[in-house]
Amino acid sequence: MCGIVGYIGDRNSQTILLDGLKKLEYRGYDSAGVAVFTSNGLEVKKAKGRLAVLESRLQEDPLNGSVGIGHTRWATHGKPSDVNSHPHTDNAMKFSVVHNGIIENYLSLKEELIGKGHRFVSETDTEVISHLIAELYDGDIVRTVQKAVQRLRGAYALGVITEYEPDKLVAVRQASPLIIGVGQGENFIGSDIPAVLAYTRDIYILNDGEMAVLTRDDVELMTLEGDIISRELFYVDWDIATAEKGGYDHFMLKEIHEQPKAYRDTMGSRINADGSKIVLDEIRMTEDQIRSIRNIHVVACGTAYHAGLVGKSVIERLARVPVEADVASEYRYRSPIITKDTLVVVVSQSGETADTLAALREAKRQGARVLAITNVVGSSVAREADDVIITWAGPEIAVASTKAYTSQLIAFYLFGLYLAEVLGTIEAADLRKTIAALQELPEQVENILQQSAKMESFAKQIAAHNSLFFIGRGLDFAIAQEGSLKLKEISYIHSEAYAAGELKHGTLALIEEGVPVIALAAQEELLEKTLSNIKEVKARGAYVIGIGLEGNEELSEFVDAAIYLPRTLSLLTPALSVIPLQLLAYYASLAKGNDVDKPRNLAKSVTVE
Ligand code: F6R
Repeated sequence: MCGIVGYIGDRNSQTILLDGLKKLEYRGYDSAGVAVFTSNGLEVKKAKGRLAVLESRLQEDPLNGSVGIGHTRWATHGKPSDVNSHPHTDNAMKFSVVHNGIIENYLSLKEELIGKGHRFVSETDTEVISHLIAELYDGDIVRTVQKAVQRLRGAYALGVITEYEPDKLVAVRQASPLIIGVGQGENFIGSDIPAVLAYTRDIYILNDGEMAVLTRDDVELMTLEGDIISRELFYVDWDIATAEKGGYDHFMLKEIHEQPKAYRDTMGSRINADGSKIVLDEIRMTEDQIRSIRNIHVVACGTAYHAGLVGKSVIERLARVPVEADVASEYRYRSPIITKDTLVVVVSQSGETADTLAALREAKRQGARVLAITNVVGSSVAREADDVIITWAGPEIAVASTKAYTSQLIAFYLFGLYLAEVLGTIEAADLRKTIAALQELPEQVENILQQSAKMESFAKQIAAHNSLFFIGRGLDFAIAQEGSLKLKEISYIHSEAYAAGELKHGTLALIEEGVPVIALAAQEELLEKTLSNIKEVKARGAYVIGIGLEGNEELSEFVDAAIYLPRTLSLLTPALSVIPLQLLAYYASLAKGNDVDKPRNLAKSVTVE
């Protein structure tokens, strides 16, 4: 995810571009840049780091001009750095491009363009677009962009300007969002509506396969083949705060709803076209190195640790390698047995968590190979690990992690299947079946999200209580722990997660009339056992909300209220059963009037031990 903006008019474009980028900073914040036509021609300024770094450089040395494009980056290809920041240009600095998305065939295009004498300065996929446009330019930028995009494979929203035609701004949308803002004597582009809302409320929303040509006084919409499109303007009557959250009341809710996309993006090209194989090109470990792994330690904090608990079961079941899961702040101090045949998997959304980083360093010091599962390209964890699987959840703003957590689960499924393939512990037919079930998950999550109203009403009920319990067995227990943490951190209601079979060894004493118990019963093979634990708490007066699979509706006979998830393989149920728990936490926090996105005492990234 990245954010793009563009302006063509009579005002100072630098100010307008920076304003727009501030609204898009949630889409990426590892670097930023702008390109503006000044009296010296096309000038570009870009800087690694938060937008404030670019802003202060522009304050010292402004770019004066009334046409420009801007970008805020969330690294995909190439680490965060000044040179990898957008906008990108051709060698003669005549064309400039901002891009949001991924160009899948950039390596072959790059080779071709190098063969034609183009010199590349960055590691990005985007730079090929500016060179390709320069190579194909025939005196008409609109026609040239149309020709160029025919050569691109992947996802892209683009803003393109050229010094040869400085009265035009060309915008293209293919599988990455883009809107056009229409003003009086000025027009705008943006990755989403908040980027332009301070200047206009008249918007065209581009669809995939469409482009727009902006001049100061006109906006022309067309297909990528050049057929003119006529469309009604959309008038935005949201306030800015709502618009920034994509129409949702909170970032957390927006991020919960972004999970189907995060699942799809994290699977992305890591599953081959016919669904028979996992392709983890980013793993540099050789097959021999994989075969020499004797044990795996999964190390992480908080929610990422809970993803690790699921990951432990997934890897053990699929690849039959022993796995231990550890909280990072404990790991170093328990003298873990690490050998050169230990693989340490660190999991971290931010890639900057101090305890996780310290565990990674300790593991490396003791000779282990380290694989990182992280959401942030170029983060400390990503840089220091031997292998990295990036989760493509996009930036997560709410302190309570949702889409980053579930995309970590997807990463574990992919990695577990990959190991199983290499180690020969999975039959080809089972692999296909599991991949097919994985690919169904995004739609199944969409289906669960439609049951939000039910979770909202449960949440209102539990918000009146001071304490409650989550119970489950096996993978359900791992999800119970995540559900309990999510509820605690944003609703401030005390809760405990218990392995359902363990209750009678102590905790059952706390169950009395009306105490809410959330019972996870999503694994069919454990259903009977879990039902008997549900009976134990019901007999002591608990109010039980059950979470089970469609087809197992007998659960309703044992609980006070139930929610049913679409059917999937038992191993994959965590990727579904956590969704209602995220909603429960969200609505409970809301019911208590808390600051959902910024819970008290907590920070998004914990960089102290
Ligand atoms: C809870 C939450 C935290 C983080 C933990 C690790 O919702 O987000 O428990 O999971 O602080 O953070 P990362 O994943 O950035 O290492």
